[in-house]
Amino acid sequence: MIKKCLFPVAGYGTRFLPATKSMPKEMLPVVNKPLVQYGVEEAIEAGLTEVGFVTGRGKRAIADHFDVSYELEHQIAGSSKEQYLTSIRDVMAKGSFSFTRQASMAGLGDAILNGRRLIGSEPFGVVLSDDLCVAEEGVLSQMVKLYKQFRCSIVAVQEVAQEDIHKFGVIDGEQIKDGIYQVNNMVEKPEAKDAPSNLAIIGRYILTPDIFEIIENTPPGKNDEVQLTDALMTQAKDGCVLAYKFKGKRFDCGSVSGFVDATNYVYENIYNA
Ligand code: UTP
Repeated sequence: MIKKCLFPVAGYGTRFLPATKSMPKEMLPVVNKPLVQYGVEEAIEAGLTEVGFVTGRGKRAIADHFDVSYELEHQIAGSSKEQYLTSIRDVMAKGSFSFTRQASMAGLGDAILNGRRLIGSEPFGVVLSDDLCVAEEGVLSQMVKLYKQFRCSIVAVQEVAQEDIHKFGVIDGEQIKDGIYQVNNMVEKPEAKDAPSNLAIIGRYILTPDIFEIIENTPPGKNDEVQLTDALMTQAKDGCVLAYKFKGKRFDCGSVSGFVDATNYVYENIYNA
């Protein structure tokens, strides 16, 4: 059983400045809900109710969001406005929330290693909440099912256009079942001509706990950051990593255009549905 999920949220969100100068990008609302809450709801739906955040300076609003606001509760108790708290109350009732800090932005691999004390030695999910996924069955739920079958690390992948491939980690693998690949190579942000496939890794992972030791022994890579992709590459060579072409839509809310697309989609298909 996988119960824990890590949310690395230490990034600066520079692409959203000035909005992110004093506010975490994970708190930007897609319609009326902060980005991070969508990810947490997806984790809880998958049964990953022990949520750990790897935060950084200036991210306290995230911790406050998943805590009771007594003043607000008191103010609107018994009024019709209480309905607006339903979704966050539900999340708080079902989940437990822990926090640790990444001292410096040394890469996603380093962020995950910082989360070790919240995870211990069990398999766990990872959500990059700037990827907003919309699916009939949540993407993490789909991946947890797959984990039960294969018991190894899994990365979610999506087919992307040639001109976008340089923004992603890209896999090379053999299809072992419809939409499931055994990974034998991975490249972080390759130029289109060097990309081993058009299958790009998005921000959903199931990781087995041996990844921590692998990250510890992974030197900084691209951009002088400890890359999770490099550690996963080692894991793929020594054991097994699967890539899973998930069912559903994904919006890159780390970019302004993806964020606007997500807002329009959620407004039309979820908020107003
Ligand atoms: P990004 O590089 O896309 O996010 O990292 P960013 O740095 O916040 O955005 P920009 O480029 O400045 O606009 C992907 C995810 O990994 C987390 C980020 O918070 C984000 O969710 N991350 C990345 C960390 O938590 N720590 C790191 O050292 C690196």
